[in-house]
Amino acid sequence: MCYIENASPMKIKRISVKSSGGNYVVVAGAIGRASQEISALGKFSSVHVASSRKVWRALGKTIQRGLHLSKHSAVHLFDDAESAKNLHSVEQLAGSLSRAGADRKALLVAVGGGVVGDVAGFVAASYLRGIALVHVPTTLVAQVDSSIGGKTGVNLAEGKNLVGAFYPPRLVLTDPELLRTLPDREFRGGLAEVIKHAIIADAPMFAMLEKDMDKVLRRDPKTLDELIPRNVQIKARVVSRDERESGLREILNFGHTFAHALESVTKYRRYQHGESVAWGMMAAAFLGHELGLTRADEVSRIVALVRRMGPLPAWPSVSSASLLSAMRSDKKTRSGILRFVLSPRIGEARSYDTVPLHVVERVLHFTPRLIAASEHLLGTHRA
Ligand SMILES: NC(=O)c1ccc[n+]([C@@H]2O[C@H](COP(=O)([O-])OP(=O)(O)OC[C@H]3O[C@@H](n4cnc5c(N)ncnc54)[C@H](O)[C@@H]3O)[C@@H](O)[C@H]2O)c1
Ligand SMILES: [Zn+2]
Repeated sequence: MCYIENASPMKIKRISVKSSGGNYVVVAGAIGRASQEISALGKFSSVHVASSRKVWRALGKTIQRGLHLSKHSAVHLFDDAESAKNLHSVEQLAGSLSRAGADRKALLVAVGGGVVGDVAGFVAASYLRGIALVHVPTTLVAQVDSSIGGKTGVNLAEGKNLVGAFYPPRLVLTDPELLRTLPDREFRGGLAEVIKHAIIADAPMFAMLEKDMDKVLRRDPKTLDELIPRNVQIKARVVSRDERESGLREILNFGHTFAHALESVTKYRRYQHGESVAWGMMAAAFLGHELGLTRADEVSRIVALVRRMGPLPAWPSVSSASLLSAMRSDKKTRSGILRFVLSPRIGEARSYDTVPLHVVERVLHFTPRLIAASEHLLGTHRA
């Protein structure tokens, strides 16, 4: 269950998330009153901020103002490159908390994108067996996706997100104001998850995106004030019903089986994650059509909207067979069977586990060709 409530002042919205580890609220549009929201959680012995140099350079002043940081607060900065999302960063941050005297009643505020949130979240889950955590997400992905749902964790050399914990925050504070300094490619990448939410759960939002994509790309404040809470609500609704991914939560993987294969064969160097999800959603729409589930007009609406996110790095020049084998080693495949989340119609998605491999292989073969051909026809081909 989750509800959305307009609170005053006008642009602030509160969305509740249910979790077995304790329910929490996402307050949207509230960075200016961060300190009041945190005070309402109760008393903490000290407040610690975890962030990265890059994020702190861009937003440190805004956050300090919003949090009313006092002399009892310490700021711990670590590298938020994906390559630094590892146990070394966990150790570094936990050590820094210890040296700063953080005890069991301390609060850790994670200020940054998904990397900061995942590392700081895991530290909060494990430092002194758990201290209070507040997320202040500063990327579009973090605001609509990674800060909600309680997944925390880091990568190993053997694979992504292999060590982690479910650890719900006490509070999430989102604000489009924090996205102003976000690089364009990161913002556009985040839009892929927004489009994904529309495809799997919100047909009216899909239509709104078709109408207002230009405003979204311009980061029009009014449009983002509406769009972000609406996406928070979708993610909150899904994870509130299925916190541990036993069923429903799987629909959030729409486009991701293809995306993970694309990322893996390009060694995570070619795509920003959202860009691979963009390709993945187009492929998933084609796959739905091939299986007689998704109507052709819905497929073209999906492709047209995804293309408006902007230019995508090219599909890799590897065989469909190597992409297929990358999919089969993805942890989201169950006992060697390929499972796919598909959308029978815009606004709905379900998981299918009887997808024949040869159909997937055909889709892998024609997706890049079809998209390249349509761009050529439209005269929008980019070298
Ligand atoms: N826990 C979950 O449920 C979940 C869900 C989705 C993704 N993730 C994880 O999130 C990570 C990706 O996160 P992301 O997409 O938020 O990107 P990110 O954390 O990698 O940040 C991207 C870049 O933007 C910079 N940045 C962040 N906010 C900024 C701002 N406001 N202004 C200027 N620069 C800013 C960062 O320093 C970084 O260089 C991945 O590791 C992924 O596995 C986790
Ligand atoms: Zn994703």
